[in-house]
Amino acid sequence: MGSSTEGTSRRPGARTVPTAPGRLPLVGHARALHHDALGFLCRLRRHGPVTKIYIGPRPVHLVNDPEHIRELLTVQARSFDKGAMFDALRVPLGDGLITAAGDRHLRHRRLMQPAFHHDRIAGYARVMSERCQARAADWEPGTTRDLVPEIHRLTLDVLLRTLFAKPHDPALSGAVKEWLTVKYHSMRLALSPLHAWAERVPLLPGWRPPDAGPLQRLVDVQLRIIDDYRADGRDRGDLLSMLLLAGGPQGALSDPEVTDELITLFLAGTGTVSASLAWALHEISRRPDVQRRIHDELDGVLDGRPPGFEDVPELTYTRRVLAETLRLYPPSWLLMRRAVRPVTLGDVRLAPGDEVFFSPYAVHRDPQLYENPQEFEPDRWPPEAAAKAPRHTFLPFGAGSRLCIGEDFAWTELTLAVAAFTAHRRLTPAASDAVRPLVGTVLRPDRLPLTAHARPS
Ligand code: HEM
Repeated sequence: MGSSTEGTSRRPGARTVPTAPGRLPLVGHARALHHDALGFLCRLRRHGPVTKIYIGPRPVHLVNDPEHIRELLTVQARSFDKGAMFDALRVPLGDGLITAAGDRHLRHRRLMQPAFHHDRIAGYARVMSERCQARAADWEPGTTRDLVPEIHRLTLDVLLRTLFAKPHDPALSGAVKEWLTVKYHSMRLALSPLHAWAERVPLLPGWRPPDAGPLQRLVDVQLRIIDDYRADGRDRGDLLSMLLLAGGPQGALSDPEVTDELITLFLAGTGTVSASLAWALHEISRRPDVQRRIHDELDGVLDGRPPGFEDVPELTYTRRVLAETLRLYPPSWLLMRRAVRPVTLGDVRLAPGDEVFFSPYAVHRDPQLYENPQEFEPDRWPPEAAAKAPRHTFLPFGAGSRLCIGEDFAWTELTLAVAAFTAHRRLTPAASDAVRPLVGTVLRPDRLPLTAHARPS
């Protein structure tokens, strides 16, 4: 162990996959992942397009090369499911779009797609803009706030109000709050050597699903709300109406399937947007030149009125800033798959059950793909470039059949939020010490103390 040539594996006819240096007894590479996951993943590209790492006893193929990632997510997508971590997640979260595999995934994806249609997002945008304006207006000039909890509350509020036209149900907000306190760290599970050992040695104490009570109470409240919706069959303009109205040759979503999807959307649509918005405001606040250009754009496009859905395509510089934020800080910094049948990626053969990881963070910082990859340079994205960037070299939202269903929702919310927070304020960092990245389920800043200053009107 310890060199890139030791510990290699070969199946007949397949290319040898080198094991990454630094494998330790019992824990494998878990220590490197624990201490500096982002640096470790970036360094792996030196060892070739695919490297083997070990989480405790569990080998994982780490795919470093974008062409291999393209194959994994598109051409060979049907040969993979999401893997061990998602099996474990199904216990506390149900089986929504994120965890679902095979035909179930296809059916749910088709039924849910209309809820994320462009015209539908126009309706959600009214809620987004109104909530972002209210939150930003509440920030007195001259005061300092840690925006991390602030933004978290905002994105949860937006999601609740886009999912349920009337989120004021006290039982609902109570149940969500309670459920959020037990929502645990899924990435810790994926990278835990103890969990990997417990799978092999049945006597070891393994991972136990968290207390099922809060989840059950949230499901019960949701089922009651679904009953109300079904009773009058009205479209209330929200996501839930669309999930209930969706139908086709494959039938409609049952009530338990709808609750699985609602929980999945809570999970997928809050932490990711919060993290991106926090990173965007972090970069904007410490770059007066970038902030000035955003102000110029907002003044020109909005002329003092609040931003709406129709303004989003006009805010092209804001979009570049967001694209660059998502490149440098992709919230989904590590993604995973598992082969469900024998499959070849490039010239690497995988057997059913083989786990595959890839890191959008490492791809986005590859000097062969991006010039000065560590620099924040919004101008590397001329208008439309982010939308046209090949999906395997710019993959904050993934790619292929499992591409984020909320991508347009997220761009819209992020653009409207940046506009709301900056249109009437100038933001500056309030602390001299660095904001640090936290690698958890998403990649987010540990805190974000910013001071708001009034802008002359
Ligand atoms: C900046 C914000 C967001 C980022 C960076 C992001 C990122 C991603 C990524 C990378 C995937 C693919 C995961 C994989 O391939 O394993 C994904 C899937 C998904 N996202 Fe997002 N997401 C964001 C916002 C949202 C929002 C706002 C929603 C819903 C309201 C959402 C719902 C989903 C769902 C349901 C999936 C599973 C799709 C499937 O497997 O068919 N996401 N997201």
